[in-house]
Amino acid sequence: MSYQVIARKYRPSRFADITAQEHITGTIQNSLRMGRVGHGYIFSGLRGVGKTTAARVFAKAVNCQRMIDDPVYLKEVTEPCGECESCRDFDAGASLNIAEFDAASNNSVDDIRLLRENVRYGPQKGRYRVYIIDEVHMLSTAAFNAFLKTLEEPPPHAIFIFATTELHKIPATIASRCQRFNFKRIPIGEIQRQLQSICDAEGIGADADALQLVARKAQGSMRDAQSILDQVIAFALDAEGAREIRYEKVAELLSYIDDEHFFMVTDAIASGDAALMLEVAMMVNRNGYDEQDFIEKLIEHFRNFLIIHNLRSSRLIERPEPVKERYQRDASRLDPQEIMAMTDLLLQTQRELKFYSEHQFRFELVLLKLIDLSGAGRQGSVSAPADEKKKPQLSL
Ligand SMILES: Nc1ncnc2c1ncn2[C@@H]1O[C@H](COP(=O)(O)OP(=O)(O)O)[C@@H](O)[C@H]1O
Ligand SMILES: [Mg+2]
Ligand SMILES: [Zn+2]
Repeated sequence: MSYQVIARKYRPSRFADITAQEHITGTIQNSLRMGRVGHGYIFSGLRGVGKTTAARVFAKAVNCQRMIDDPVYLKEVTEPCGECESCRDFDAGASLNIAEFDAASNNSVDDIRLLRENVRYGPQKGRYRVYIIDEVHMLSTAAFNAFLKTLEEPPPHAIFIFATTELHKIPATIASRCQRFNFKRIPIGEIQRQLQSICDAEGIGADADALQLVARKAQGSMRDAQSILDQVIAFALDAEGAREIRYEKVAELLSYIDDEHFFMVTDAIASGDAALMLEVAMMVNRNGYDEQDFIEKLIEHFRNFLIIHNLRSSRLIERPEPVKERYQRDASRLDPQEIMAMTDLLLQTQRELKFYSEHQFRFELVLLKLIDLSGAGRQGSVSAPADEKKKPQLSL
């Protein structure tokens, strides 16, 4: 039996199952009841809060035959039925009435032209063709402009849903032609409840505080919570052979994952590896870390090395034995003077971050600067390739 990741397996297929976004699903359901569906929508919010999920349920709902044919059902239930031919096509991933377009990798004017061509043709079956354009803030200005006309005069059968984590990067010309929905961070309690029902469905016992710890770690993203749960299950069940998730196990695993991030940073420094450093930055972002938080713990990580350099012992480091050994081992690859300079830089950044909103970018920059401050960084000129690497990301 192939293992299906939890996030995929438990993707809601009805409005009612989309947690904590009732202000959005309710409004959409109302417009369906009134037969007033718009042509352009912006779904904004953190990753893993239900943007793509809501867009798919919406696409399914506007094409559901029961919703179209049965006014009482439409009024009273207002959910895709899951049984008609259209719904079944959607569930099998075989519907032609939904097109998902990843703007992060298809962001040229030519890509948009192709999309525009495609939009001209109506659906063969069903009512609407729904275009979900993910990471829409990655489109170039020219690509946005190429799209504007389509959005000004959309064909009657087309619905565009633009999903983005960065609303402020969408030009006003586009935003003003769309209905905007801002997806919330999901409260810890609701994430915990969702995790609990997943564990119930999987026949896995779980401590309430273990699940709460996972929920807290996810910082408002349901997807993050679910992928942490995947790891926790693999970790907890492998080790014990039991189908139980205990608080201690989860705490151990989460701190292990944390430690990994920090050791990767010092690895990247010791080997002057800018690519590895950028990977850490991306992982931090993906794993739902707050950058300030991460920097704070990174300072502590550096402090541990300084302790070892000064005391020649890992006795004062409050970490499990294998982690202490790793500190001992890695300490020889790092110069204490340089560690001090890096710590200074981090402390300074920590103060500065409070005043800026572009955290992600500054965070990447400071991590790369750490390499520059090290001997490894100065020998091989790290800055040049690092800048190269960043360029495509920044110019998008
Ligand atoms: N509001 C939510 N309620 C229930 N599950 C959710 C919610 N948001 C996300 N999920 C879970 O996370 C997964 C990814 O969600 P998705 O809608 O793709 O997030 P994004 O906002 O990044 O588009 C879904 O498959 C689902 O399992
Ligand atoms: Mg998405
Ligand atoms: Zn249906």
